[in-house]
Amino acid sequence: MTRITVFGGTGFLGRRLVDRLAWAGHEVIVAARHDRDVSVPDAPGTAIMRRTDVRDDADVAAALAGATAAVNAISLYVERRDLRFEEIHVDAATRIARQAADAGIGLVHVSGLGTEVDSDSAYVRARAAGERAVRQTHPDAVVVRPSVLFDPNDAFSSSLRMLARLPVVPLFGHGETRLQPVHVGDVAEAVAHLLERGIANATYELGGPGAHRYRDLVEAALTAAGRHPPLVPVPFPLWRGLSAVLTALPSPPLTRDQVILLEKDNVVGDGANTFATLGIEPRDLVRNGLGGQH
Ligand SMILES: NC(=O)c1ccc[n+]([C@@H]2O[C@H](COP(=O)([O-])OP(=O)(O)OC[C@H]3O[C@@H](n4cnc5c(N)ncnc54)[C@H](OP(=O)(O)O)[C@@H]3O)[C@@H](O)[C@H]2O)c1
Repeated sequence: MTRITVFGGTGFLGRRLVDRLAWAGHEVIVAARHDRDVSVPDAPGTAIMRRTDVRDDADVAAALAGATAAVNAISLYVERRDLRFEEIHVDAATRIARQAADAGIGLVHVSGLGTEVDSDSAYVRARAAGERAVRQTHPDAVVVRPSVLFDPNDAFSSSLRMLARLPVVPLFGHGETRLQPVHVGDVAEAVAHLLERGIANATYELGGPGAHRYRDLVEAALTAAGRHPPLVPVPFPLWRGLSAVLTALPSPPLTRDQVILLEKDNVVGDGANTFATLGIEPRDLVRNGLGGQH
């Protein structure tokens, strides 16, 4: 049994990973700001909540005390006046990496596909800077870059299903951007494999088995709903404008950073370490009924 600290262990990916690790018999420390019931009943391992703000050195040290490995699955998708992307994706990522390196323990840093230092998106730039800082601070860290995560009830699958209720369906551009949606449980499995095999100093790009054009995903959702409203191309500059307004809402349904990410293909690169490297066969969003089955 090993003791693994999962920063962001109450999040969409983090919860799946905590379950997977507890069921494999590990002792999991779940580090996040808000108390939740993180127990995994009947599992041979344990999961214990440890209230942590990753912006605080002492909190991070306490969460890592006695750990044999750590995972950073923290996220921030929308900036607030008092909380910037750099604080979470660069500064906090570096803090976790430095403390993990000083303790001599392994680290899996979860980032995302499509990070670019010169992106128009502040989110994407911060993720790229965070990866670089983690690499410099903890050379043995493993960076994991998933494509968009799905499960049967997540926001991405639900938003595709919701489109089926509209009289006309607006596309992002012509809907030609290719995405490789990946099941959240498959990413959790991959991270668990990396930890359990002690893999170090590597980058993994994790996408589902198929790269789908956005319009094909929409059409699959419409077919599943038995509806065929017309698809209407909407230019990206219009989406950027609309999302800039929406981003000001407390819980924006669409952010400018998401629009910018949708302007370019979000697929696994040639020659990358992937699920295949780990011997994992990932599930496909379309073949799994657009998240309708497990
Ligand atoms: N979801 C996707 O489609 C997607 C796609 C590609 C990559 N990723 C990456 O996958 C990782 C996990 O994403 P996710 O969607 O699972 O994130 P999420 O559901 O938004 O969860 C974020 C987690 O971070 C914790 N957190 C946030 N700020 C914190 C702070 N200051 N101190 C401590 N904990 C904090 C949250 O708990 P509290 O709020 O209680 O602190 C929560 O546990 C991220 O690196 C993300 O960029 C996600």
